[in-house]
Amino acid sequence: MARTGTSPEPSQSGGEPPAPQHVAIIMDGNGRWAKARGLPRAAGHERGVEALRRTVEAAGDLGICYLTVFSFSTENWRRPAAEVNTLFALLKAYVQRDLARLKEDGVRVRVIGQRAGLPPDIAELVDRAERETAANSKFHLTIAFNYGSRNEILRAATAYARALAAGEVTADLTDEAFEAYLDTRDLPDPDLLIRTSGEYRISNFLLWQAAYAELLFVDVQWPDFNRDHLESAISRYHERERRFGAVAPGAT
Ligand code: IPE
Ligand code: IPE
Ligand code: MG
Repeated sequence: MARTGTSPEPSQSGGEPPAPQHVAIIMDGNGRWAKARGLPRAAGHERGVEALRRTVEAAGDLGICYLTVFSFSTENWRRPAAEVNTLFALLKAYVQRDLARLKEDGVRVRVIGQRAGLPPDIAELVDRAERETAANSKFHLTIAFNYGSRNEILRAATAYARALAAGEVTADLTDEAFEAYLDTRDLPDPDLLIRTSGEYRISNFLLWQAAYAELLFVDVQWPDFNRDHLESAISRYHERERRFGAVAPGAT
């Protein structure tokens, strides 16, 4: 499903070019947002959930079809237990509070990352969110939770090796055959990858899938991210020329 250069061509009629099909966001800066206001880090995470709600709504309005957000990384377990617990509780509260509306709005919810190791109540809830929205296709919200790209690739490689040992697949591995084992198996590659908070790194997010994503690093802290920031990100995306290794059209 991936690797297609998914962004459609700008319209020939001179109107606004279409939005990127798939936007991925590293939602960073909650702690610094809170610190700057003399608040506990948990307050930043709480406000971060509000920014996520705003962004899901804005993304749909702006014509984005797929939004994938980095919510908790496999490395975030290194944080104090109290903060980890807050982040888990916020995911739970978000799904519990928003699932009915997401479902009604035609949103398909997916949660990518290692399911094993999640507390059973959270694992059950995310299973339910995925099941109950599986028939939706208007908008695709993917939450990367307990997600790390290296972990995803290793789990995929292990599953592939098992299938090979069982004689279910051949050893001729192609991009497409391998992608079928990734958590993102039914998602297109991201066109635009945004990181908030002014950090210039990927932090183990979608390493395989973002091979040709346009990268955008913005200074705003995630709790302050809003529709204007997303619109501006899309405008900057439209200024980029995506070549996918080829030469630009018209180049001699
Ligand atoms: C993003 O904000 C949320 C997670 C990584 C879970 P941070 O908590 O990383 O905030 P900063 O980077 O410390 O400001
Ligand atoms: C990346 O942010 C992970 C999420 C946003 C969930 P981090 O704050 O964990 O990344 P580093 O530690 O600054 O690289
Ligand atoms: Mg951070």
